Amino acid sequence: MGFENILVTTSGRVGIVTLNRPKALNALNGALIAELGQALDQFEADAGIGCIVLTGSDRAFAAGADIKEMQAHTFPATYTDDFITSWERLSRCRKPVIAAVAGHALGGGCELAMMCDIILAADNARFGQPEIRLGVMPGAGGSQRLARAIGKAKTMEMCLTGRTLSAEEADRFGLVSRVVPLANLMDESMKLAETIASLSLPAVMMTKESVNRAFETTLSEGIRFERRLFQALFATADQKEGMSAFIDKREPSFENK
Ligand code: HXC
Repeated sequence: MGFENILVTTSGRVGIVTLNRPKALNALNGALIAELGQALDQFEADAGIGCIVLTGSDRAFAAGADIKEMQAHTFPATYTDDFITSWERLSRCRKPVIAAVAGHALGGGCELAMMCDIILAADNARFGQPEIRLGVMPGAGGSQRLARAIGKAKTMEMCLTGRTLSAEEADRFGLVSRVVPLANLMDESMKLAETIASLSLPAVMMTKESVNRAFETTLSEGIRFERRLFQALFATADQKEGMSAFIDKREPSFENK
């Protein structure tokens, strides 16, 4: 399928989406978000894909929702069109998604990264929710996911002033899993994605579902949910293979289905 605002490629069992509006620092317009949704639909339907990497350019992961597109929006139109709902496709992705973030991840760009499961940051990455400076506020989950990731005080300061975080701060505050030199960002992200994609797909997907449940429910319900999924995995051929391979002292070969 031809896309105008993103590049979509695969490498082995890894699907790669590269945001590609370089002149606008990957500002996220409606067309880009629709294309991202289509790319995710394709990867989710493809049994040959076990992990997805979402990235931008060295200068910008994404500098936010497209301000030029939003400027004339009205409340009735944003309400009737349900503006933003289509962004949720990424957070509904059942396969793991790694955000490989270099440069600006601002506003909707930061929110998009936070919808992913793991954020790997280049040393030049900057994260922020500067919407308040435009007279608005985060609208794609920023106030909620950032608060869960780094706590109230730091989230309030960022959202109320627009202060951005350096990659080092984002790492220290727990927003990203680690920081790597810019030149190594894609190699490291691909290594991580290939590792995940080589493992049992049902086990990987259930693990993602279980970790995400921690943000939606009580501890006892979350533990119950985890236990049911754990028990279910004993119905998979991959469980037999993984444990047999350990006992036989060989590498496992997962079926991934
Ligand atoms: C539209 C944008 C854009 C954006 C940058 N550009 N960000 N266009 N929407 N969010 C465009 C600029 O207009 C310019 O194009 C080109 O990209 C390069 O940007 P410059 O500003 O010239 O680059 P630089 O001086 O390096 O500054 C980089 C920057 C700055 C610090 C990232 O561009 C910036 O502050 N951008 C806006 C960041 C922001 O407020 N994001 C939140 C958006 S609201 P032209 O053609 O003009 O030269 C949001 C709400 C999310 O995300 C809610 C859910 C949808």
